[in-house]
Amino acid sequence: MIYLDNAASTAVHPDVVKEMLPYFDVQYGNPSSIHQFGRKARKAIQKARKQVAALIGAESNEILFTSGGTESNNTILDGVLKSSGEPDPEHIITSSIEHEAVLQPCKDFENVGIKITYLPVDEHGIVNPDEIANSINSHTVLVSIMFANNEVGTIQPIKEISEICKKYQIPLHTDAIQAVGKIPINVKDLGVDALSISSHKINGPKGIGALFIKKGLTVTPQILGGGQENGMRSGTENVASIVGFGKACEIAKDKLSDNISHFHSLYSSLLTKTTKEITHVKLNGHPEKRIFNNIHLTFLGVNGEDLIIKLDEHGIAASTGSACSVHTQKASHVLKAMGFNHEQITGSLRLSFGYMNTLDEISQTVEVLKKVVSELRSVSPYKTKYNF
Ligand SMILES: Cc1ncc(COP(=O)(O)O)c(C=O)c1O
Repeated sequence: MIYLDNAASTAVHPDVVKEMLPYFDVQYGNPSSIHQFGRKARKAIQKARKQVAALIGAESNEILFTSGGTESNNTILDGVLKSSGEPDPEHIITSSIEHEAVLQPCKDFENVGIKITYLPVDEHGIVNPDEIANSINSHTVLVSIMFANNEVGTIQPIKEISEICKKYQIPLHTDAIQAVGKIPINVKDLGVDALSISSHKINGPKGIGALFIKKGLTVTPQILGGGQENGMRSGTENVASIVGFGKACEIAKDKLSDNISHFHSLYSSLLTKTTKEITHVKLNGHPEKRIFNNIHLTFLGVNGEDLIIKLDEHGIAASTGSACSVHTQKASHVLKAMGFNHEQITGSLRLSFGYMNTLDEISQTVEVLKKVVSELRSVSPYKTKYNF
């Protein structure tokens, strides 16, 4: 198999597995316990918190462990609303291309009268920072704009957006789940107040993630109980996963520049070969302002889901890019917001790389793509339109 769906999830790094194992059957103490077992588990969590903080330039007491990206996003949105003290109706600004883990909570807030502004994007999927300034009003409690888009890979001008938010004293959250480990991120330089991370996108285990909350930002806890995580998230900590996530962050930090150049070479090779070998292919997302472990293409006259099935038959794992479409059968809201028509949306394919992918796998993938795209086009309803 050639796995090119690393934006959906990644293999757990062998060093991460090694680091996690003792916390299942040797160091299995409850971190709240006073005895040695408890102290060792507590220490392991402290170490992991430092490793996560170091990857994004935060302080370790600004890191809250969560069950993953979805919970991090829900926690910040809900937690800021609950602690805002703003007169009703409160207002949140976000974009029309966010992940469902931001959009669905926002839809839910609208049902109880909270106002949400969904900013449009240009054809590359970029938000215009001026539109943020124009949308802020006296009820605005939070701006939440994703860092890198999970479908097309476009990066938003987060630093520029944070300067606007600072001017109006509105906290800024960014869902950086696809950006962490793919580009250098420093929360202090960026000036963000909150940032979401997910472990399973960076070769850590699933079901664990973190929310960076800048010191001084008040966020009401969502889960009440024994007061773990400094009262921010009660419940006995998932020690083994926290340890694994910490190690994954350490590796991501150490290998960041190697990984970035590796992704660049895979990306360039795939793009050059595909556009040379196959006609009527279009690159989606911004050509430069992007994460390079993601390449999103439209093959005109082809149905993306048929393409994925054919690729799978040849041992290549790919995606259309929107995990939610699998559950809802809806056309991608991201591509729609970028102004794509039905044909461009249905013909799209996302290939996303991990550190283990090789240039040889890229060459094999292009050969298979050439074959399966041609097969699908031979029976395409657009056959005459494009003279396939
Ligand atoms: C941009 C973005 N936000 C949020 C999530 C959800 O993260 P998790 O799977 O850790 O809940 C994902 C996962 O695909 C994502 O890509």
